[in-house]
Amino acid sequence: MSLLLRDVTAGDLPLIERWLHADHVRRAWGDPDADLRLLSVPPPEGHWRAVIEADGAAVGLVLWQHPTREELDVAGLSDIPASVIDIDIMIGERDALGRGHGAAAIRLVTEAALADPAVPFVIACARLDNLASRRAFANAGFREDREFDDVPHGRYVLLVCHRCRRGGRTRSSTSGPREYRRQAPLLNDRQLDVDVLTALSKITQCHE
Ligand SMILES: CC(C)(COP(=O)(O)OP(=O)(O)OC[C@H]1O[C@@H](n2cnc3c(N)ncnc32)[C@H](O)[C@@H]1OP(=O)(O)O)[C@@H](O)C(=O)NCCC(=O)NCCS
Repeated sequence: MSLLLRDVTAGDLPLIERWLHADHVRRAWGDPDADLRLLSVPPPEGHWRAVIEADGAAVGLVLWQHPTREELDVAGLSDIPASVIDIDIMIGERDALGRGHGAAAIRLVTEAALADPAVPFVIACARLDNLASRRAFANAGFREDREFDDVPHGRYVLLVCHRCRRGGRTRSSTSGPREYRRQAPLLNDRQLDVDVLTALSKITQCHE
C-alpha cells in the first residue's frame, strides 16, 4: 500500500464536493456548500491542503494551518500559541475508511510540520463523539490533552503531538506492508521554509 499527499488542483473539486456531501464527512465538517466555497479558492497564507492518494487513487483531503489567536481564545485555548499547526482531515471515499489512511496522512503532515523549528507542536480538535477521528490521531502519535467547548459547535477534545514524543500504534495490516511516500509539494521548502528532508531524518533518528 502506497500513500502520498499531493497538491489539490481545480480538477479535484467535483470529487471534493462529493466527499463533503458524504454523511460521515458532513457530520464532522458541517455545511458542505460553505466548505466547498472555502476550498474553491487558493488557501490563504499559513494554510496548506493536500489530496490523500492511496495506491494512486484519491481518497481524501487533509488541511493544515496556523490557527489565529482569536480562534484559539474563542475556544478557551488561550495557552496554545498561534505558531502551532492545526490539522483537519477527511477520508471521503467510504470504501477507504478504516484502512489506516487517515492515521498515515496525519503522520506525514505532522512530520512535515514539526520539521519547521518554529512550530512547537501540532494540534487537532475532534468532537467528543468522533471516535474514529480520536483513534486515527492516537494511532498517529497524538495524545488527548483536554476537553473544551467550541461554542456553538459543542464539546471537543484537543489532541496534541510534540516532537520526539510521537509513537502511536503501528498498524498490523492484513493488506500487506504499507509504504508512505513523501511527495515533493508537501515537503518542498517552498511551503515550509526549512530543509524538511534533513529535518525529517533528524525526527526519525530522534524517534528511534
Ligand atoms: C477520521 C477519519 C479521517 C479517520 O480516517 P481512517 O482512515 O478511517 O482512520 P484509520 O483507519 O487510520 O483509523 C480509524 C480508527 O478508528 C476506529 N474506528 C472507526 N470507527 C469507529 C467507531 N465508530 N468507534 C470507535 N472507533 C472507530 C478504527 O477501528 C481505527 O482504530 P484502530 O486502528 O485503533 O482499530 C475518517 O473517519 C473520516 O474522514 N471521518 C469523517 C471526517 C472526520 O471525522 N474528520 C476528522 C475531524 S477531526
